[in-house]
Amino acid sequence: MKPLLLAVAASAALGSSLLAPEVLAQSPAEAQVNALEGLAGPQPGSRRSGAKGICASGHFIGNAAGRELSRASVFKGDRIPVVARFSVGGGSPKASDKGKTVRGLALQFQLPGGEQWQMANISAPVFFVSKPEQFAPFVQARTADPATGKADPEKIKAFSAANPDTTRQGAYLAQAPVPASYGTVNFWGVNAFEFEAAPGKSRFVRWQFVPEAGVQGLSEDQLKAMGDEFLAGELRERVAKAPVSFDFRLQLAEAGDNLTDPTLAWPDARPVVSAGKLVIDKVADGMGGACDAMTFNPLVLPAGIKPSADPVLNARAAPYAISLGRRLTEAAKK
Ligand code: HEM
Repeated sequence: MKPLLLAVAASAALGSSLLAPEVLAQSPAEAQVNALEGLAGPQPGSRRSGAKGICASGHFIGNAAGRELSRASVFKGDRIPVVARFSVGGGSPKASDKGKTVRGLALQFQLPGGEQWQMANISAPVFFVSKPEQFAPFVQARTADPATGKADPEKIKAFSAANPDTTRQGAYLAQAPVPASYGTVNFWGVNAFEFEAAPGKSRFVRWQFVPEAGVQGLSEDQLKAMGDEFLAGELRERVAKAPVSFDFRLQLAEAGDNLTDPTLAWPDARPVVSAGKLVIDKVADGMGGACDAMTFNPLVLPAGIKPSADPVLNARAAPYAISLGRRLTEAAKK
């Protein structure tokens, strides 16, 4: 059925004349990207999420513990070239580095034989929605009302009350200090993946990148003394002195652990193994660079790693592609 007919049919089925056909005609992924654009306002050429960021590069070396869990070539122990992008959450390239939002670490591993592994991780162990259908309404509830220029706290309250699972990431970020550096914050993959050692021998995992420099946040006094832009310069200075490393750790699920809800962390008691080391030894000058024309689609996986049935994970490819298409088109017009 054509989108407009679908919209009209859906509108009739809902018995509503309030739902404009152009709204109903959006695909879920378009609605998600449009909601992000509504929240940040027009930001031509920028990512619709994680808009402020810098490109970096380095390598990854996997180890024997990784090899035991997955046959993916990334764990063979070779030096694997990596493109990285560090970012600040939100759809504005001018977001403050002091915001109590997530920081992002996106990676592309260039594996032997032309294989690639892409991922985009965040500085929180959980995501803000458990189902893709919650994404656009979650963002819309936080979008400024044109009449007041402000988000309506009542709307946010009502959405949270109806969707209590969407409050977990905010609760984590509210109590976590603002990261002092992109090199001193923990990044989590959040979604579950299936690591396959051999046909029929697999295990569900969630990964994280633990900074070897330790986790360091800013105190309230330090925060007051900082400007809105410090993360990019700080990382450049840090990497000029010595490479920045992260321990790649896998948390192993046990029977009964939830594999499909990224707002729920697994119990701390689950085994965690170190499966390799990420080393960042170059940061691009200025904003942008080689990573700008890329998107980091977490469904681009090497043989030996499979997606779980997490609906949020499986919904990520489409909005990333739409955002990439829109921003590259805008950048070409500039
Ligand atoms: C339905 C759920 C999600 C939607 C609709 C969504 C949407 C988006 C979009 C549109 C972009 C911009 C892509 C680009 O222009 O290249 C993006 C980037 C990003 N997302 Fe998501 N996302 C979702 C889930 C997640 C989850 C679960 C995580 C954390 C594990 C995450 C972490 C990130 C990060 C770190 C970036 C910036 C990547 C970069 O530096 O290129 N997202 N997301």
